[in-house]
Amino acid sequence: MSIIKTADLKRSFSMGTQSVEALRGINLDVNAGEFIAIMGPSGSGKTTLMNIIGCLDTPTSGKYFLNNQEVSKLKDDDLARIRNKEIGFVFQSFHLLARSSALDNVMLPLKYAGEKKNIATERAKASLNDVGLQDRMSHSPSELSGGQQQRVAIARALVNSPSILFADEPTGNLDSQTGDDVMALFKQLHKNGQTIIVITHEEDIANQAERVITIRDGLIESDKLVHENE
Ligand SMILES: Nc1ncnc2c1ncn2[C@@H]1O[C@H](COP(=O)(O)OP(=O)(O)OP(=O)(O)O)[C@@H](O)[C@H]1O
Ligand SMILES: [Mg+2]
Repeated sequence: MSIIKTADLKRSFSMGTQSVEALRGINLDVNAGEFIAIMGPSGSGKTTLMNIIGCLDTPTSGKYFLNNQEVSKLKDDDLARIRNKEIGFVFQSFHLLARSSALDNVMLPLKYAGEKKNIATERAKASLNDVGLQDRMSHSPSELSGGQQQRVAIARALVNSPSILFADEPTGNLDSQTGDDVMALFKQLHKNGQTIIVITHEEDIANQAERVITIRDGLIESDKLVHENE
């Protein structure tokens, strides 16, 4: 089943009198349950593409269907509603609240969604359990290692059971061993059926996904299966 489908997706940014064409016609089809890495040089359009597929931004032209619903023309409010329900984000620098415990950080999206406190607590605990942090729930980010902080961020991204987990350079701030641990966690989540898209500069990281897409100058340069149904 197709979860993401784009047709001739373009995004340009106007900079004064100039215009930057960040995406120049992306045609992408992703099935539910795929584990994809997106590679490409700096400035090639990876984050711009993630922002559109992640419902943080809309294209200048072209179409985007998420779960067979066209979202490319939605207004901000509708886009935000779909984003909160369907997309979980993980970033290079974790983006955790420094003064809040791991549990409170993971509960945040549920609080925003208006979930009852006891239900939110139970779901956040289950999500921390899924990333192996059941014994670190009351620790604040400064009391956790980098890899553990990233796992809290992953638990937070997953707590709403999103259709797609997006990670933009999730291993960029981690040493290679810890980066591999995060990728091992992604592989396990993938095995459990989670659709995952990881943006990375590192070939070693990308090659741990199932499918590797390379972007160059706003276009897909290559799209290869590296491991099938592992
Ligand atoms: N908000 C913006 N306003 C103007 N130009 C932008 C904006 N966002 C991105 N761009 C331009 O679009 C192009 C693609 O940027 P993007 O951030 O998608 O690249 P990237 O592949 O994620 O790069 P990196 O690997 O460095 O993160 C770049 O030339 C960038 O300067
Ligand atoms: Mg980027």
